[in-house]
Amino acid sequence: MKFQQIKDNVFYCGLNDKDRVIFDELIPLENGTTYNSYLIKGSDKIAIIDTMYPPFIETYLNNFDENGIEKIDYIIANHGEQDHSGAIPALLEKFPSAKVVTNSVCKNNIKEMLLVDEEKFITVKDGDTLSLGDKTIKFILAPGVHWPDTMFSHLVEDNMLFTCDFLGAHLPSNDIFAKNDSKLESSAKRYYAEIMMPFRTMCKKYVKMIDDLKPSIVLPSHGPIHNEPRFILDLYRDWTADEAKNIVLIPYVSMYKSVEEMIFYLRDKLEAKGIKTRCFDVIQADLGDIAINMVDAATIVLGASMVLASPHPAAANVAYIANLLRPKAKFASVVGSYGWGGNLVNKLADMLPNLSVEIIEPILIKGRPTEVDFKLLDNMAESIFKAHKSLGLI
Ligand code: FEO
Repeated sequence: MKFQQIKDNVFYCGLNDKDRVIFDELIPLENGTTYNSYLIKGSDKIAIIDTMYPPFIETYLNNFDENGIEKIDYIIANHGEQDHSGAIPALLEKFPSAKVVTNSVCKNNIKEMLLVDEEKFITVKDGDTLSLGDKTIKFILAPGVHWPDTMFSHLVEDNMLFTCDFLGAHLPSNDIFAKNDSKLESSAKRYYAEIMMPFRTMCKKYVKMIDDLKPSIVLPSHGPIHNEPRFILDLYRDWTADEAKNIVLIPYVSMYKSVEEMIFYLRDKLEAKGIKTRCFDVIQADLGDIAINMVDAATIVLGASMVLASPHPAAANVAYIANLLRPKAKFASVVGSYGWGGNLVNKLADMLPNLSVEIIEPILIKGRPTEVDFKLLDNMAESIFKAHKSLGLI
């Protein structure tokens, strides 16, 4: 496959993976993904920025032959996770004089995970530069988006910023440039929710840094290249803002429809009060859709049945994911139903230590809801209304 030119002597040498259906064995992918790799030919030296996911190494290496690349001087590793670093050992075998250029944290990760020898590395610090002759690469350490080893590489003369996972999307296409449409927005939001949302504060910091740098092109390691970076930066500004939106996310699991009946009642009451709701039966729903809605929701209400004396595992899984992803929600509650006993509310609440939420009085009933319980749901809807109003969301 011919490498696609991005700018003079800067090429895309990544690959699409349209068949991949899940990432990290966690979040379903709607379109597959890409593993972006870039080739920069300077007047003196040739560098690659990020490499390839292990199952695609053979195709990746063959493409260097097809494109007549006989020498690589530098393999720049912006991040040690193997979807980008996985081909480094094979590249070093193919181009034995090449050096891996990265920061000390990433170097240790690659040494330990991929068994690359110390002598193969050039270690760089924040602000260091690497000359390729007529092109210069400046390194910007960016720990936290999303690993401690992450860095960005700035191709100074062309003002191109290679941001690794940051500002990426799971969106393969034959056109390597972003179309800035709703499909990209949705794909990038799903990606942000799983990979970047736990580091929202750091994301804000790097959005500001990139704003100040004003790169003409932003080149992430998944998804399209942003030749109008404003589009993705504006989205990130919205998603990372401290302010939540007037949305209640309600993931629920219901064994005998009691929980579902209560959730639907609550949903209708909230909607009648002008609050948007996003209800998901977690047994049927795509976990990525639930994660996307964690990005903005001001309130999360978890609906759960009991299995034996514990919350249903599907509800516990959503609580566990929410705790991992650290959404910005300000309020949370639980609506549950049990058969013979158990401590549903405390067990779910104990699973959410990472969330900074105010708890709205939970509702836990035995079996089917009664008129008394619907009154409690009226009260919950009113409490959520007041809570959103207190934030100026209504
Ligand atoms: Fe796409 Fe953190 O690897």
